[in-house]
Amino acid sequence: MDLSPNPDRGKSEAPEVEIPSELRLPDEIRRLKRERGAILLAHYYQDSEIQDLADHLGDSLQLARAAAKAEAPVIVFCGVHFMAEVAKILNPKSIVVLPDLEAGCSLADSCPPDAFRAWRSRHEGAVAVSYINCSAEVKALSDVICTSSNAERIVRSLPADETVLFAPDRHLGAWVARRTGRELVLWPGTCVVHEQFSERELVRLQASHPEAEVIAHPECEAAVLARADFIGSTTALLRRVAESRTREFIVATEAGIFHQMERAAPGKTLLPALGDGGCACNVCPHMKRNTLAKLYLALRDLAPRIELPEATRLGAAAAVERMFELSEPPRA
Ligand code: 13P
Ligand code: SF4
Repeated sequence: MDLSPNPDRGKSEAPEVEIPSELRLPDEIRRLKRERGAILLAHYYQDSEIQDLADHLGDSLQLARAAAKAEAPVIVFCGVHFMAEVAKILNPKSIVVLPDLEAGCSLADSCPPDAFRAWRSRHEGAVAVSYINCSAEVKALSDVICTSSNAERIVRSLPADETVLFAPDRHLGAWVARRTGRELVLWPGTCVVHEQFSERELVRLQASHPEAEVIAHPECEAAVLARADFIGSTTALLRRVAESRTREFIVATEAGIFHQMERAAPGKTLLPALGDGGCACNVCPHMKRNTLAKLYLALRDLAPRIELPEATRLGAAAAVERMFELSEPPRA
């Protein structure tokens, strides 16, 4: 099996999408996956057609665990850049490809490594907990990583007399601070999608759907979270829709997850939370950079690849492994 990259596909270059029209992309992707011995990991915010081809679907923590366990020579990661980096951090022997290298994240972008290093040095002796939505360099400068599903547990595990820095999501950090009663020093980052959800529009929706349960991702701002009946990671929100007796939900997270929610709870009504002026702004532009055509090209060319300096990878791996030690075993 030839696993050499296509030399014509530059590292930072966006793939050119020239695909013969007669190709049935889902069939071609399945065929290439078999030929390459590749596995496809996808986040719930990917387009439904990509989700339907995935070997593992999940939230950030589940995908990190799946990447760590993977024995495939190739991991195709359909998510954003920091998620694919985590796959490479935990599984350096595998080739990790991301269909669009420009698939970033506003949280990771808000936290450049030099600024993070300077921030840490202004809080000597403090422990730095970083949300997984940050670059590998920032991970390597952190003591422990967390995700939305274990942030509270990780912070609770730290000695009460320690000063805790939390980066880069100030809304998640503030939520963890309220939950744990700990004072956290927060980096001022936000998610461009979750910060759009408007409390005013939520109140309006609740008035017209009084039976609906409000479920929200902790990246939403405090005023929205204060109105939520349930707060959790993408996987926790999906489970809630499936397991709750409620038939109607107002969902304050990215639109991609509706695909699995509809599957897990057919017949239940899912209403997207809205932004100011009623805008349907619950789509992550970064996640949506990956398309079926780019996925096909990524498998065909084994590019673009995620590569990391070994020192950065080792530093980041230590902080991610610390997260695994401090977080719950996965729920069956
Ligand atoms: P989850 O880990 O809950 O899937 O969140 C990832 C993310 O990017 C949310 O915006
Ligand atoms: Fe980043 Fe927000 Fe997109 Fe999640 S939804 S990947 S936090 S920009």
